[in-house]
Amino acid sequence: MGGVTVSLDDLPLREDLRGQQPYGAPQAPLPVALNVNENTHPVPDEVADDIADSVAVALRDVNRYPDREFTALREGFAEYLGHGVQPEQVWAANGSNEVLQHVLQAFGGPGRTAFGFAPTYSMYTLLTRGVGSAFLSGERGPGFTLTAESAADQVAAADSDVVFLCAPNNPTGTPLENDVVEAVYDATDGIVIVDEAYREFAPRDTPSALQLLQGRPRLVVSRTMSKAFAFAGARVGYLAADPALVDALRLVRLPYHLSALTQAAASAALRHADTMLAMVDDIVEQRERISATLEALGYTVYPTWSNFVLFGGVADPRATWQALYDRGVLIRDIGIPGHLRVTAGTEDETSAFLDALAEIGR
Ligand SMILES: Cc1ncc(COP(=O)(O)O)c(C=O)c1O
Repeated sequence: MGGVTVSLDDLPLREDLRGQQPYGAPQAPLPVALNVNENTHPVPDEVADDIADSVAVALRDVNRYPDREFTALREGFAEYLGHGVQPEQVWAANGSNEVLQHVLQAFGGPGRTAFGFAPTYSMYTLLTRGVGSAFLSGERGPGFTLTAESAADQVAAADSDVVFLCAPNNPTGTPLENDVVEAVYDATDGIVIVDEAYREFAPRDTPSALQLLQGRPRLVVSRTMSKAFAFAGARVGYLAADPALVDALRLVRLPYHLSALTQAAASAALRHADTMLAMVDDIVEQRERISATLEALGYTVYPTWSNFVLFGGVADPRATWQALYDRGVLIRDIGIPGHLRVTAGTEDETSAFLDALAEIGR
């Protein structure tokens, strides 16, 4: 029992999934893990205690299905987002990956297409394929930037049902400003998703795409608690959009998709938003330190508004990745020739990475 009896090829798998690779960022128990853009600062003790109390209360009713409409959590997100966002404009799910999947299930599907500007977040392709749609890739300009004109032209030509704009972009960190969002929205009849997973790490005075929601019923702004909120393990993502678009997502979600424990934990964490976000400034400081040091070491460093840095000028990314691994530091080889990506960690973790890299040399 339990042994492998057939290979995947022997199973009646969907034809369009044959030969595909699953999401596979390495998970290795190394002392310094800076590979998946987590917040490496733990949740502060006083907040963890309050979250534990809230989860304990929710546990008493766990014999019942949870609030299918996650009303309290929705209100919490609306208040956190500001910009006049109302609770009926908010949707949430198990990570922003599931939020994006809901949008694709409702607005993509067999025979439809989704579009994004490569290189970008690898899950866009996987989620798109998962709903039976084709993913089309557009191109970026020098330094992975995107102008409003080029973006709009490419989006108009692709004529896809869903467009992903990653702001700032993963894995490059590249800022994406609202003029690009406006131009892309005007260039398509499809859904435009602005993925603001790393929004809290951008300069405070820069506008969010939330400012554009009014009067744009096909615009979606997605966010996550996984990054700035240090809540990746809890799996909570959310979006803001027109109430009609949110209604459409009810057609595809599983009933009670957000557990009572998740709802309780996320609502409690949101009550402590200021404390949860207190580490953002420190992370931005470490990010700037990484950028400055890498530049001094002779690498090409790209502007970043996220909690990670993409750097080029790496002669052999695989060898450098392995040499760092051997020194207990895990970063990410994202498959861009000559480049590697590193997440800003605590001060000590960041020092461990920079010291190891300096020792290895270019
Ligand atoms: C751009 C972007 N969007 C979405 C996500 C998904 O985050 P989660 O599902 O943890 O909310 C990530 C995670 O790395 C990301 O980089």
